Amino acid sequence: MNTKEGKKPGTAAGKGNDTMESLISLCKRRGFIFQGSEIYGGLAGTWDYGPLGVALKNNIKKIWWKRFVDDRDDMYAVDAALLMNPRTWEASGHVAGFADPLVEDIKTKKRYRADHLLESAGIDVKGMSLSDMNAKIKEKGIKSPDGNAIGDVRQFNMMFKTNIGATEDATSISYLRPETAQGMFVNFKNILDTFHPKLPFGMAQIGKAFRNEIAPRDFLFRAREFEQMEIEYFVNPKDWEKTFDHFRDEMKAFTRDVGLTQNKVYELEIAEADRAFYSKRTIDFEFEWPFGRKELYGLAYRTDYDLKQHSEFSKVDLSYFDEEKKERFIPHCIEPSFGLDRTVLAVLTDAYQEDTMKDEDGKEEKRVFLKLAPSVAPYRVAVFPLLKNKPVLVEKAKEIYDMIKKDFNSRNLGAVTFDDNGNIGKRYRRQDEIGTPYCVTVDFDTIEKGTGVTVRDRDSGKQERIKIEELIAYLSK
Ligand code: GAP
Repeated sequence: MNTKEGKKPGTAAGKGNDTMESLISLCKRRGFIFQGSEIYGGLAGTWDYGPLGVALKNNIKKIWWKRFVDDRDDMYAVDAALLMNPRTWEASGHVAGFADPLVEDIKTKKRYRADHLLESAGIDVKGMSLSDMNAKIKEKGIKSPDGNAIGDVRQFNMMFKTNIGATEDATSISYLRPETAQGMFVNFKNILDTFHPKLPFGMAQIGKAFRNEIAPRDFLFRAREFEQMEIEYFVNPKDWEKTFDHFRDEMKAFTRDVGLTQNKVYELEIAEADRAFYSKRTIDFEFEWPFGRKELYGLAYRTDYDLKQHSEFSKVDLSYFDEEKKERFIPHCIEPSFGLDRTVLAVLTDAYQEDTMKDEDGKEEKRVFLKLAPSVAPYRVAVFPLLKNKPVLVEKAKEIYDMIKKDFNSRNLGAVTFDDNGNIGKRYRRQDEIGTPYCVTVDFDTIEKGTGVTVRDRDSGKQERIKIEELIAYLSK
């Protein structure tokens, strides 16, 4: 098994680097995402979500869960333990082969992904074996990024090893799960025995996965700790193609649900030489990232490989009996696999915009804003009093805030926030930067003339005056 990342071309462009830097800085400044363990200098490949990042991530999870679990009658949710019996990973093939090609700088001892070094030198690594990579490195005289010679390419297993209990020997070794998928295969029989589902049916799970990536990079794109949203969907083998096509459409629809620009999402049929060995067909959904076109999600036909392996290793029968046809067989599996953090990053990079806009004094100024779909934005509406020190405005603004919040909560329409920090211009900038689609302002006309409130649209900056009794309908349109 070889991880598929980085096998396709896609280089970091200068402009892309600038966008990533600006986005990472916005995420920190506005409380979306921080470097993991930052006060200790960080821990490479880990990221901590702050309040707005949690809100964005939770909105994405909700959308996924609705489409793939709640709106269907054939999906069984699980939340399996992160630590699993180590036999799981022998059966799945991860102990023997969940590896990436590693090379070491002979002088500095720094380690690099061999495929990344080759790609940076413009070499297509698709389908290359370890010895092919070794030969190419020698032929082209490829050096480390520090300009030193590099050693031979070897396989590096990416599972994080740990010890269970008080003894630290070979018998206590376990691993942090490198994918959520196996937590579903090992519970297949539990679902059959407790719910007696008929084929086809699926199992769905959202949870953490851990991979000791040689070179974590590109912010959330390749981390050592990340979340996956996965489905293992079990079918009679004769139905695999139509199920594959169904999930292909559903995955595409999900990219629309979270608001991704559709012409930045591509489907790539993975050639046999580049597929995981258990897969008979794989399609990668790729995304146009600021650092190039690379994998966002994967859809694989895993055949009966996993259930067969777990049957053999556990000695537990994982077959299915079709009552109507009086037929017993091991179901085949279609696996749509989504990276949650990659979705967060795709949504953020896609939404990041810079333009110029007139400020409150009519001066043109540079503006940064996140053009997030309302369904994923941390806040759907922000409510302000025009001035913070006028109790009459503050009171009315609080009243309107409570009214919208109560209604939006009851209809699950998204979060509403109250903001009276700084002047109105600063508040607009702040809400633009965190992607709030609408800002509602209570001013003196609201109180004195009863003409309603102003509603400012994030993308155009235009303001409209809306009557209070029409406000909720306007904001939820
Ligand atoms: N169960 C199949 C599986 O895990 P994968 O292609 O290795 O397949 C699935 O991973 C998805 O998980 C990827 O498409 C990507 O979205 C996400 N992913 C994988 N490695 C990641 C990493 N190091 N950091 C962030 N997301 C990652």
